[in-house]
Amino acid sequence: MRNPSPSSKLSTLLLLLSLLISFLSSKAVASSSSSTKSSLNRGSSLSVEEDSDLLTSPDTKFSSGFYQVGSNAYCFSIWFTHSADKTVVWMANRDRPVNGRGSRISLDRDGNMVLTDVDGSVVWNSNTSSSRAQSAELSNNGNLVLKDKDGHFVWQSFDFPTDTLLPSQPITKGKKLISASANGVVSSGYYSFYFDNDNVLKMMYDGPEISSLYWPNPDYTVFQNGRSNYNSSRYGVLDEMGLFVASDQFGFNASDLGLGIKRRLTLDYDGNLRLYSLDESTGLWGISWAAMAVECKVHGLCGRNGICVYAPTAKCSCAVGYEMRDPSDLGKGCKLKFNLSCDPNQVKFVSLQQIDFYGFDSAHQTNISLESCRQLCLNDCSCEAFMYRNGGDGACFAKSALFNGYRSAAFPGTMYLKLPKDVNISGSSMIKESDPICESSKAERLMGSSDMYKPTHDMKYIYFYWFVSAIGVIEVLFVASGWWYLFRSHGVPTSVEEGYRAIYNQFRRFTYAELKKATKKFKEELGRGGSGYVYKGVLDDDRVVAVKKLGDATQGEAEFLAEMSTIGRIYHMKLVRMWGYCSERSHRLLVYEYVENGSLDKHLFSNSSSGNMPLTFLGWSARFKIAVGTAKGLAYLHHECLEWVIHCDVKPENILLDSDFEPKIADFGLAKLSQRGGSGPNFSQIRGTKGYMAPEWASNLPITAKVDVYSYGVVLLEIVSGNRLSNWVVDGDVEEVELQRFVRMAKEKLDGGEETWISDFVDLRLNGQLNWRQAEVMVEIGISCVEEDRNKRPTMDMVVQTLLACDDESNDMHHSTSSEINI
Ligand SMILES: *[C@@H]1O[C@H](CO)[C@@H](O)[C@H](O)[C@H]1NC(C)=O
Ligand SMILES: *[C@@H]1O[C@H](CO)[C@@H](O)[C@H](O)[C@H]1NC(C)=O
Ligand SMILES: *[C@@H]1O[C@H](CO)[C@@H](O)[C@H](O)[C@H]1NC(C)=O
Ligand SMILES: *[C@@H]1O[C@H](CO)[C@@H](O)[C@H](O)[C@H]1NC(C)=O
Ligand SMILES: *[C@@H]1O[C@H](CO)[C@@H](O)[C@H](O)[C@H]1NC(C)=O
Ligand SMILES: *[C@@H]1O[C@H](CO)[C@@H](O)[C@H](O)[C@H]1NC(C)=O
Repeated sequence: MRNPSPSSKLSTLLLLLSLLISFLSSKAVASSSSSTKSSLNRGSSLSVEEDSDLLTSPDTKFSSGFYQVGSNAYCFSIWFTHSADKTVVWMANRDRPVNGRGSRISLDRDGNMVLTDVDGSVVWNSNTSSSRAQSAELSNNGNLVLKDKDGHFVWQSFDFPTDTLLPSQPITKGKKLISASANGVVSSGYYSFYFDNDNVLKMMYDGPEISSLYWPNPDYTVFQNGRSNYNSSRYGVLDEMGLFVASDQFGFNASDLGLGIKRRLTLDYDGNLRLYSLDESTGLWGISWAAMAVECKVHGLCGRNGICVYAPTAKCSCAVGYEMRDPSDLGKGCKLKFNLSCDPNQVKFVSLQQIDFYGFDSAHQTNISLESCRQLCLNDCSCEAFMYRNGGDGACFAKSALFNGYRSAAFPGTMYLKLPKDVNISGSSMIKESDPICESSKAERLMGSSDMYKPTHDMKYIYFYWFVSAIGVIEVLFVASGWWYLFRSHGVPTSVEEGYRAIYNQFRRFTYAELKKATKKFKEELGRGGSGYVYKGVLDDDRVVAVKKLGDATQGEAEFLAEMSTIGRIYHMKLVRMWGYCSERSHRLLVYEYVENGSLDKHLFSNSSSGNMPLTFLGWSARFKIAVGTAKGLAYLHHECLEWVIHCDVKPENILLDSDFEPKIADFGLAKLSQRGGSGPNFSQIRGTKGYMAPEWASNLPITAKVDVYSYGVVLLEIVSGNRLSNWVVDGDVEEVELQRFVRMAKEKLDGGEETWISDFVDLRLNGQLNWRQAEVMVEIGISCVEEDRNKRPTMDMVVQTLLACDDESNDMHHSTSSEINI
């Protein structure tokens, strides 16, 4: 039939259409065919794709399943079924949401409960393999339990609270409630509620800049606060009546004391601990008790230099002369608008009534005059302000930093802020309540009144695809569309960035134009590596960054995603921090923190200063510090971070030195995530740099973290000797790598029992100015790291331990036994 009839065309079209529709609605279809369960048996699982794939408690008051925390981002959670907005009381790894497709929670055959993401990576597990747990059930009290065949609890969610305690769920030694980071965001914040070492229940702010206890009142003793610290059982629990009692004598009653009310005790994102009662007719929560009557007394709320103003809800503000660091996040505090001079003649003091900044007193004196107190602060460059209390005792507090600012009519003293002399402050009020524009975000961040206290359903999370090539082309398409969705469909980049930042600590996407501007059209080249060129740049917020432009389009893409997926969520002092990336058309760029002193090789191997970077000769203590720091960074990658990471290209070029010559490991472009407990990843291509590569790269052995140990060993020996050991040399008629000769000779000397062997191996340029004991240890470690047999190599953890063990001796460098050696 050459010309199909219109009706057959139409039916084909309809068929296609219906196929499409049924495909698109497969989620809905599937969900209608499954039903909620009362228990999950061994070998079965719940899927993120089916809304009704839930566990419910027998009385249906609690449900457990996948809770949506953002666009396509879910967390396995427990919530109140009948609250208006599914109030969550527990989450499994809230800092790592899973994808809305393909993720599942399963009770494995070995009794382990495992949450897996779409790529199969384990995001959370109950650590109960080999426990023979038979089933997972949700109890009427909201406790998710794993039971063995005799009905014994093998694991329970009550032992791992998130930010909420339920009635009958005790808080005990080692357990902590940790607040969420912001309203409507589930990731971990900075506030915690826990039993401290003195057996007293406390609340603490532990932020990026400071940590500070704020409850019970830090100005009082344990007993003044009505607590006791002699009972070491460390136990506190809320009962069904709404009565809380703890072993430190702390206790409170719900304002609606009585049975039959659903309650929860939650450490809110604003650092206040509140008891809530559910009104089951409306599904809304009312507050029946709160730990902090005055929200502003919570520490850390308004950030550095910020002042919390309570009127009567909490608001953040800045003092005169200061401005918001980030109007969209008042928690970041304020910054001085001017540069302060250390010259006492260039500054003046401005008084602020009824304001106190808690803590950070660099000096405290009593019975002195206001003028002496002023002089004290004037002559100390680091003093930013002082508080003077005239009432009888003439108390003077000099402040080295301004945190926990709070305005209260009850403060007896006056705060004097240091400002540049030529600033005109007349006519401006001393505290600026921030601009109306910020009002809404402020209200969101700080709220003390109950009506605002509803968990919101703001979608602050976006799922991000980590993995690179697991499923191939489909995955790449999926990734591409995911990215597109992430950053295009929302239209409002800030909201996306916000959620994104919440999970990944300021890790964000940059536009190409932004980076072009920051680097002044890629003007200043810092270096070039296997994966691309690196340029220096300055962002709009004055952060100096290193922008790496990846070359080679196809290879670049995979490398780009690999690098992203790894570094985006790894943060450690000894690792170069990645601030973000850019992916636009064919452009792939990575934005890193700028590390001032360049790479180790330049300082270690070259004699003359090359380029525009003045070189510093590295003395012994700097070298030792670099050895220890690099080992710590690698140990973190291998043993501590969320997923084990092998660097695969450890070499002096990838060890950067900051302004204090502390090392930071760079370039994870070649790193690959290894699977925990897996048999070792297969590498599709050989990675690394000749001379630093372990022998197993050449053989067909699986690649393990021991390849990094080998490379580290080479670097360590180079640090001691000051020579490139990865170069080829001719020795007699044998051509070999310098390293082999070095190791052979060192072993001979070591075995020969010579006491002074080490002097043959250290950098002559040090002129004997070194700690011989440390050098010996470093050479010994270096040699063991470059063993052919990788099983004989130590782990990075062991290396760190060994190095730190001789760090203590660094002070008596001139008295160590072997220091008499003369060269
Ligand atoms: C399981 O063990 C890992 C590693 O020790 C730990 O990080 C994780 O929190 C544990 N999970 C639970 C549910 O205890
Ligand atoms: C310590 O506290 C626990 C739990 O509150 C209580 O049962 C116990 O009696 C207390 N011990 C003493 C010696 O008071
Ligand atoms: C709570 O109420 C009970 C009974 O009404 C009372 O005995 C107890 O002292 C109250 N506790 C507190 C901490 O107010
Ligand atoms: C403060 O000093 C820095 C350099 O020291 C300068 O770049 C900046 O412009 C100064 N800011 C003000 C407000 O004077
Ligand atoms: C304060 O200083 C004055 C004299 O300088 C002295 O007489 C007085 O006893 C001091 N008071 C206290 C409380 O130290
Ligand atoms: C300071 O500012 C006020 C009002 O803004 C103005 O009247 C006054 O002349 C200024 N003083 C100086 C010294 O500039």
